[in-house]
Amino acid sequence: MSLSPRFIAFVLAFLISAITTSFLTFVQDVTRSMLFVTCVSSFVGSFFLVLYTIEIIVYREVNKMYRTIHKLKLKDFNISRKVLIRESNPLKRLNDEIFVYVAKKQKEIEELKKLEQFRREFLADVSHELKTPIFAAQGFIHTLIDGAIDDEKVRDRFLKKAAKSLDGLDALVKDLVTLSQMETGAIKMNLDRVNLRVLTEDILDRLEKIAQDRNVTLKIKPDKLTEVWVKADAMRIEQVMINLIENAIKYNNDGGKVIIHFDEDKKSYAVSVRDNGPGIPPEHLTRIFERFYRVEKSRSKERGGTGLGLAIVKHILNGHGSTIAVKSQVEKGTTFTFKLEKTDEF
Ligand SMILES: Nc1ncnc2c1ncn2[C@@H]1O[C@H](COP(=O)(O)OP(=O)(O)OP(=O)(O)O)[C@@H](O)[C@H]1O
Ligand SMILES: [Mg+2]
Repeated sequence: MSLSPRFIAFVLAFLISAITTSFLTFVQDVTRSMLFVTCVSSFVGSFFLVLYTIEIIVYREVNKMYRTIHKLKLKDFNISRKVLIRESNPLKRLNDEIFVYVAKKQKEIEELKKLEQFRREFLADVSHELKTPIFAAQGFIHTLIDGAIDDEKVRDRFLKKAAKSLDGLDALVKDLVTLSQMETGAIKMNLDRVNLRVLTEDILDRLEKIAQDRNVTLKIKPDKLTEVWVKADAMRIEQVMINLIENAIKYNNDGGKVIIHFDEDKKSYAVSVRDNGPGIPPEHLTRIFERFYRVEKSRSKERGGTGLGLAIVKHILNGHGSTIAVKSQVEKGTTFTFKLEKTDEF
């Protein structure tokens, strides 16, 4: 049964006239025609009065809705959802529901716009990063073809440079493929039992040369924790550790320190890679995990980075059901931390 304003007015007017007329029957000397007139006039009077009142209320609420929509346009989202749901008036609730619905839609639209912007930036970054090594290799090869090939010294130097550019291009494309495969879920983590301590010592041996060149010392702490058994994909976790330690060396000051720290708790190990380098300004901290994001484009580039390392780190750790956190203080240093589940199984 629909509760239209006319129906409500009709029922109420009927009740009012019935009550009025029945009271009137108790009064002495009341004639039938008097009762009839009272019945009709009270019915008609109440019907229009009630209808008018409802219309005014509805009108007011509709106006409120318009105002709500207007407010939404002005991005005024100050009302909490809890307050909205407590409301008992159906019209007000409808108004509130519209508010919540429109707010949600607006948020979705904003997210889509952000994604679109992100996609555009990504495409521009990829083309730029691909273009640089291709142009370099192309330049060397054309110079060789144009005659430089006859000079033995120049030939070797140019060929080496062209090969280096192409190696860089190869590494970049591999990183991009890994990232997109991880994003689409094509790569599954091959979880196994890994001694993270041994794996880290092995990485330090390999990175010692770069560290020495930059006068950076590498250390694992605490000494007593010789076995750090975690459930992880050994190859991927190695990639994570290499990137974090390599960053800590690359972006450190000359003569700086890098400490890899393992911390044991009931169910997991917390791993942190700390350096005492120049740190990352707070406005960049949330963005360093984005693809191609570099804090200082020129300096990172000069140290051979493409800005994909931390994006890969984040995806690998997510694949392990973990997350990466970063804390940094300018001029003091940076610490990256993540947790991995302990394991004793064989
Ligand atoms: N320990 C750190 N200290 C200071 N800045 C850092 C540190 N680690 C990362 N950054 C900043 O974050 C940016 C992103 O790091 P990421 O590892 O993703 O890229 P990259 O090192 O430039 O390139 P790639 O790892 O692909 O070789 C770096 O360019 C650098 O500016
Ligand atoms: Mg890196």
